[in-house]
Amino acid sequence: MISHRLLLLCMLPMLWCCDGLPGKPDPANRYIRPTEVTNFDTLYSMNCSGCHGAEGKLGPAVPLADPMYLALASPIHIEEITRNGVAGTTMPAFAIEAGGTLTDQQIAIIARGLSTRWGQPQSAEVVAAAPPLAVSQEGPPGDPERGAAHFRTFCGSCHGPEGRGTARAGSIVEPPYLGLVSNQNLRTNTIIGRRDLGMPDWRQVGDRPMRPQEVTDIVAWLASQRVPRPSSSMAN
Ligand code: HEC
Ligand code: HEC
Repeated sequence: MISHRLLLLCMLPMLWCCDGLPGKPDPANRYIRPTEVTNFDTLYSMNCSGCHGAEGKLGPAVPLADPMYLALASPIHIEEITRNGVAGTTMPAFAIEAGGTLTDQQIAIIARGLSTRWGQPQSAEVVAAAPPLAVSQEGPPGDPERGAAHFRTFCGSCHGPEGRGTARAGSIVEPPYLGLVSNQNLRTNTIIGRRDLGMPDWRQVGDRPMRPQEVTDIVAWLASQRVPRPSSSMAN
C-alpha cells in the first residue's frame, strides 16, 4: 500500500506537465486492488501455481489440472479446501475469514475456472464406478493390515513391497513425508495417481481397477505409519 502511494506521488508531477507525452496514464491500466481481480489465469498464477504447477501439473502438490481429478472432485470439495486450507500441511487457507486474501467470489472463480480451463469430459460410467474422492465419503474405515497386502499388489512394483521406494518411484512411508500430508492427500494420490509424473490412476495401477475399500485400506496402512506428533493432530 505504502509503496503504491509513493509511486502515485512520484507520478503526479508527470501528470501535470507531460500531458500528451508517452506515459500518460491509460485508465485501463489503473491500479486494481487484489480483491478486485476476477481473471482466472491471474488468480491461479498469483496464488496457486507455485505449488500446484504453472499449468496445474508437475508441481510438488496435487496436479489440479488432471481431468480425472476435476471429474471426481466436486466444486464444493475444491472450494472447501481452498477456503480453509489443510491444517498441518503447506496448503494455506485462502478465505479472508480464515486469514487469507481471497474473497468468496474469487474462490468460486478459481474453483470453476479449473474445470473450464483444464477439465475434459470423462465417461459417465467410469466416474460413477470410481472410488469416492473425498475422505468424508469413503465409507467403512480402512483396515491397515488388509491395506498392507493391497499395497504389495497394486503399488509394490514401483514403490517397493514395503513402500520404501525403487528405481521407478520414491519412498512414501518416510515419517517426514507422512507427517506433512493429510489422509485426503494420500487418498487423492492413490485414486488419481500422478499421471504428470508417471503414476497411473486407480484403473491402471494393477491388473484390474482398485475397489473403493482397497483404496481406503491402503490409505489406512500408509496413515498407520505416521509418527504421532505430541502437540498437533492430523484429523483429516
Ligand atoms: C504453498 C503451497 C500451496 C499453495 C500456494 C496452494 N496449495 Fe493447494 N495444496 C498444497 C498441498 C501441499 C496440498 C495437499 C495438502 C494435504 O496434504 O492434504 C494442497 C491441496 C489442495 C487441494 C486438495 C486436493 C485434493 O486432495 O483434493 C486443493 C483443491 C487445492 N490445494 C487448491 C489450491 C488452490 C485453488 C490454490 C490457489 C488459490 C492452492 N491450492 C495453493 C499446497 C499449496
Ligand atoms: C507405475 C508405477 C507406480 C505405481 C504402480 C504406483 N505409483 Fe505412486 N508414484 C509413482 C511415481 C512415478 C510417483 C511420483 C513421485 C516419485 O517418483 O516418487 C508416485 C508418487 C506417489 C505418491 C506421492 C505423490 C505426491 O506427489 O505427494 C503417493 C502417495 C503414491 N505414489 C502412492 C501410490 C499408491 C498408494 C500406489 C498403489 C495404489 C501407487 N502409488 C502405485 C509411480 C507409481
